[in-house]
Amino acid sequence: MKVAAQQRYGGPDVIEIVERPKPMPGPGEVLVEVRASTVTLADCAFRKAEPFIVRLFGGLFRPKLDVLGDDIAGVVVAIGAGVSRFAVGDRVHGCTGAALGGMAEYVCVKETAALVKVPEGVDLIPLGGMSYSYLTAMPFIRDEGRVKPGDHVLINGAASSVGAIALQLAKHFGAEVTAVASGRHRALLERLGADHVIDRQVADFTAARGAYDVVFDAVGKSSFAQAAPTLKPGGIYLTTVPSWGIFGLMLSGGQRGGKRGKLATTGLRSDGDKLKDLHVLNRLLEQGAIRAVTDRVFPLHKIVEAHRYVEREVKAGDVVVTMPVAQGPLLLAATAASVGA
Ligand SMILES: NC(=O)c1ccc[n+]([C@@H]2O[C@H](COP(=O)([O-])OP(=O)(O)OC[C@H]3O[C@@H](n4cnc5c(N)ncnc54)[C@H](OP(=O)(O)O)[C@@H]3O)[C@@H](O)[C@H]2O)c1
Repeated sequence: MKVAAQQRYGGPDVIEIVERPKPMPGPGEVLVEVRASTVTLADCAFRKAEPFIVRLFGGLFRPKLDVLGDDIAGVVVAIGAGVSRFAVGDRVHGCTGAALGGMAEYVCVKETAALVKVPEGVDLIPLGGMSYSYLTAMPFIRDEGRVKPGDHVLINGAASSVGAIALQLAKHFGAEVTAVASGRHRALLERLGADHVIDRQVADFTAARGAYDVVFDAVGKSSFAQAAPTLKPGGIYLTTVPSWGIFGLMLSGGQRGGKRGKLATTGLRSDGDKLKDLHVLNRLLEQGAIRAVTDRVFPLHKIVEAHRYVEREVKAGDVVVTMPVAQGPLLLAATAASVGA
């Protein structure tokens, strides 16, 4: 089988398409024929080992996990002994778990992993990128922001993978949503339900005063100090990206002047918590309450270009990578059904 592997840390060129033996599922595992996976900024960080702390998880001198890819959509083609939750032929989506390995034609996944069947009538290919963006956005909007009807929520980086799903979730929970992004994303943000759009190249969202219950910086480009004045009393600033500022705030009680701030590490949640949330995602997909947002689809052999594109930080929604089995007419049909950027 073909996999996208890297033997050293570095730029996109360190990734090569190589042949590896097709794995066999062990007891309690399923073998998934991967149709689609995704490239995210987190993958780029693991590829480069930047920040340095990545080496503590991924290998000090060279990548221990040489095939990236935590997020997959595919079809179960074999099951190991004792597997009862899945059967051969099931369409599935979710996460491979700590071993990664999803950027491959086949991957073995534990039955207990955050993997669920795809609901009838939902396209598989866009889901290759959605578990990442949804499993990041949902805990921020529901658990940290506790968004409820009538709240006014601002999302910075609203066209990013995480932001585009956060916007839809905040609308689903009944909020009035202000979406901040470059003006070229305005039409997409309005299609996703934004009540107000701020073009970040024309206006500075931090100029508002006492306007928002929740400010979610999906791309972590602002700071608590900049955003706090925009919050109502008791409001909360949430960010996806670590900084000394947010660490300092959290270490000193998580609030200043009656305004709260928090960085959540959603990627470190347990498989069980992610699994529960993927079931919720399935219900939202069935209800039509939320849709995958796909920017570009790259075939596996263009994986280096996919990494280069993601690193530019200009995409709107997910970058999906398809495996050879999923390329051709099937792919065209699937991508046409998702929300393009
Ligand atoms: N805390 C966690 O556990 C966790 C989990 C997953 C991901 N993350 C982090 O979450 C962040 C977002 O990930 P993602 O995959 O959603 O990102 P992404 O899709 O790669 O972000 C691309 C978007 O960033 C926007 N952008 C670029 N520069 C900007 C700026 N200066 N100000 C505002 N927006 C800007 C661009 O919009 P414009 O066109 O407007 O520039 C573009 O739409 C990443 O840093 C990722 O590492 C954290």
